[in-house]
Amino acid sequence: MTEAARVPRHIAIVMDGNGRWAKARHRPRSFGHNAGRKAVREAVESCLREGVQVLTLFAFSSENWQRPQDEVGALMNLFVRALDKEVEELHGHGVRLRFIGDLQAFDEPLRLRMHEAMTRTAGNDRLHMNVAVNYGGRQDIVRACQCATEAVAKGELRVEEIDESRLGQWMSLADLPPLDLFIRTGGEYRISNFLLWQAAYAELYFTDTLWPDFDQACLRLAIEDYARRERRYGRTGEQVTANH
Ligand code: IPE
Ligand code: IPE
Ligand code: MG
Repeated sequence: MTEAARVPRHIAIVMDGNGRWAKARHRPRSFGHNAGRKAVREAVESCLREGVQVLTLFAFSSENWQRPQDEVGALMNLFVRALDKEVEELHGHGVRLRFIGDLQAFDEPLRLRMHEAMTRTAGNDRLHMNVAVNYGGRQDIVRACQCATEAVAKGELRVEEIDESRLGQWMSLADLPPLDLFIRTGGEYRISNFLLWQAAYAELYFTDTLWPDFDQACLRLAIEDYARRERRYGRTGEQVTANH
């Protein structure tokens, strides 16, 4: 990897393991979710320091509604509290906050806070922080297909013109640098319907560390691991070396 490419421009994280972290301490799962807030702050600080341009965090999947009602409720309360407390500081650091996923499903007070946070930080560009809530990777692809179909129906696009790059323009985060590094904490080796389209050529990094324990040193390790990868995009190692 060239020197400039050693730091990923775009990191995505599946913040997993809060429940097990709490269980190990004989505390309710919501205690683990709350403890995860510190890890979010650490990740943001690291990205600012390392010069990462985009950080995309998976906070609530479209499948997480299936959890017990009290846990879903606790998570919603946590999101509200976190937005109330953290947005100004993020704004002060030049972070642009964006929520991806279907926000319609959330109740009014939370939706309002999300929109306010996006508006408040819209002018920032030091770090783009995207939080995926009620997000599903398949749904993201379906929505892009719906946009393409609509454009065809309106006569603005011909079917033959739909290619990867055209369809990709309708996916979440299409305006940001492509995903370089996909991290999952908590020891599971799966994507759980996160950025399916966007992760096509991302480097994957899995760690057993539970999300509340994931600190700046942990992220540094992930970035160092990434720096040692050879991204070939289908070519041979020799071709990649020759191009440098
Ligand atoms: C991830 O931690 C946070 C959310 C899904 C909201 P978990 O709650 O999935 O933690 P584990 O996997 O049960 O330990
Ligand atoms: C993925 O974690 C979603 C988030 C981290 C928000 P889960 O814990 O919900 O994933 P599964 O159910 O183990 O695949
Ligand atoms: Mg989990």
